[in-house]
Amino acid sequence: MVSPLPADESRPLENLHDWEEDLLRRYPQPGDSDSPFTDPAKKHHKFRNYEAPARDSVREFYRLNHRNQTVDFVCQKRDEYLSLNRRRMGIWEALEFLNTLVDDSDPDTDLPQIAHAMQTAEAIRGDGHPRWMILAGLIHDLGKVLCLWGEPQWAVVGDTFPVGCRFSEKIVYPEFFADNPDSRVPAYQTESGIYDPGCGLDNVLLSWGHDEYIYHVTRDYLPLEAQYILRYHSFYPGHRNRAYDHLMDDQDREYFRWVRVFNPYDLYTKSAEPPNVQQLTPFYRELVDEFFPAEIAW
Ligand SMILES: [Fe+2]
Ligand SMILES: [Fe+2]
Repeated sequence: MVSPLPADESRPLENLHDWEEDLLRRYPQPGDSDSPFTDPAKKHHKFRNYEAPARDSVREFYRLNHRNQTVDFVCQKRDEYLSLNRRRMGIWEALEFLNTLVDDSDPDTDLPQIAHAMQTAEAIRGDGHPRWMILAGLIHDLGKVLCLWGEPQWAVVGDTFPVGCRFSEKIVYPEFFADNPDSRVPAYQTESGIYDPGCGLDNVLLSWGHDEYIYHVTRDYLPLEAQYILRYHSFYPGHRNRAYDHLMDDQDREYFRWVRVFNPYDLYTKSAEPPNVQQLTPFYRELVDEFFPAEIAW
């Protein structure tokens, strides 16, 4: 049975996780017998919400996202947030703050944000990756605090993509860009639009969301590899579909390797088995303290 779409346009998704679960539908783990896509019996206990209502809400979510993410909107949000004068807060405090962003409509299966953070980080740790990468796993979604500051879901999550140039057909639901006013700006209709080919992604405006925000909040404290992971982990048209190689420079090409190494840890570690947050907290607090001061600017 398909439930009606929520009336509130700022929250088409019942839960922010619905976007990430739709990513799993689009990018199933290849050859993994544990994948919910190869064993239907597992999909119900390992992952939730693949039924039609979630997909309808994801569609509605992308309709809003693609209609509203314009050059003007992105510039406005960058002005609003990237001066980082909202508040001062520690990384751990931010994790706990983000944890309040749990939709209580689905209490049985939904893991709090801190659990996703630790699951991602633990999988990275388990594979013997360096400490900065474990930390990147822990903090990569902290930009979702934008939701707690009143931003609509479509301006927080969702695949990111460049604005100011032609929207790639490789972006999910490309048909929804017909409603984006930028689709009628002549300067934005070529492959590189307002950018020079090979100019480097640092010179390119990506749609506004949690990646860009957390990158700016944390960039002074992290190695460049981690900065790339944070800034581009939702840039699926770039790191998965390679639709924007023509805007990348040599540094992007080199460091996207880490975005691609990271992506499976983000996507495929969402088991229903929650990590023991209490037990793991001392390790992660120490890791956070190794890289960050007690408070940083948000
Ligand atoms: Fe994310
Ligand atoms: Fe994530």
